[in-house]
Amino acid sequence: MKASAIAHSNIALIKYWGRSRNHDPNLNIPSNDSVSMTKYGLTDDIHLQTHTTIEFSDNYQEDTANLDGAVLVGRNMDRILRVIDPLRKYADVDAKFKMMSKNDFPTQAGLASSSSGFAALAIATVNALGIHFTKEEISKYARLGSGSAARSIHGGFVYWNKGSSHETSFAQQICGPNEFDMNAVIAIVHEGKKEVTSDVGHNLAHTSPFDAVRIQRSEEQAKEIKKAILSDAFAKVGETAEENCKYMHAVMMTSTPPLYYWSPETLRLIRSTQKIRKEGLECYFTIDAGPNVHYFCRPEDTLELQKMLEKIEGVSKTIPVKPARDSQVVKKHLF
Ligand code: PMV
Repeated sequence: MKASAIAHSNIALIKYWGRSRNHDPNLNIPSNDSVSMTKYGLTDDIHLQTHTTIEFSDNYQEDTANLDGAVLVGRNMDRILRVIDPLRKYADVDAKFKMMSKNDFPTQAGLASSSSGFAALAIATVNALGIHFTKEEISKYARLGSGSAARSIHGGFVYWNKGSSHETSFAQQICGPNEFDMNAVIAIVHEGKKEVTSDVGHNLAHTSPFDAVRIQRSEEQAKEIKKAILSDAFAKVGETAEENCKYMHAVMMTSTPPLYYWSPETLRLIRSTQKIRKEGLECYFTIDAGPNVHYFCRPEDTLELQKMLEKIEGVSKTIPVKPARDSQVVKKHLF
């Protein structure tokens, strides 16, 4: 009853921000459909992935979890149990578990460690328990740890249908990693931990007067962008993603209390985008719940864009990424 999995993080083109208020908040049912690209880091050491091993055994006296050498307790352990307990129940297993997980990138630095983390956890757990689930079914359980993890089960470009219950809220692949030519470059301005986690932010979205507008527009944009991805309309994909990001940050900034995730460097990067585009390199930005900026570009422009971004004051590092393949079970165990 032991299995390991590797999952990749994802960057949302159409954001999930806020949970449906008609459901148990622990189910992470979102207020709108969202769309993402699963990311594979094109550097020697950072592939933006999580490797997780889990073992269930009667020899264990208690459940234990370890991430990057630190023992997980409190809220972090609770979130892990939200994924594992229903699966343990489904498989009719009482045994305790030992889990060990490693990120190859800084945890909680706005690079979406929770998406790869809970996707790897759900895949490894399902396999360790011998459950035969489709990827869509595994996606529902990954969602219980972190909403965006529902999308990281699949590679390439992914659509998370918000659904209206645990059974109907899961992600599906729009197209595989080689079917739409788009890369991204992440411009890192801060590597520290976020001040306010997205988990807290999701509960504040409804306090913004712009929340309802963002939800309505996001629903439309999710469908538009899916169509644009399938018809290789790069400019439409980029423009829609950029606009949707601004809606999310408008909601964040106008919530009570307000959430300001940008730093001065973030704004400098936003303003540089127009200049870069004017110079002839087509790219579009998006920003999650943190100060770092992701730029979407055509694969052939990746290196050039990286060079341009590295010249901007405040950018400490760039990470080029391409669409990743599906997250999957691996033979190599961490213990
Ligand atoms: O999955 P969470 O709870 O970490 O929320 C993700 C929130 C954003 O990254 C800001 C947007 C998204 O859709 O990934």
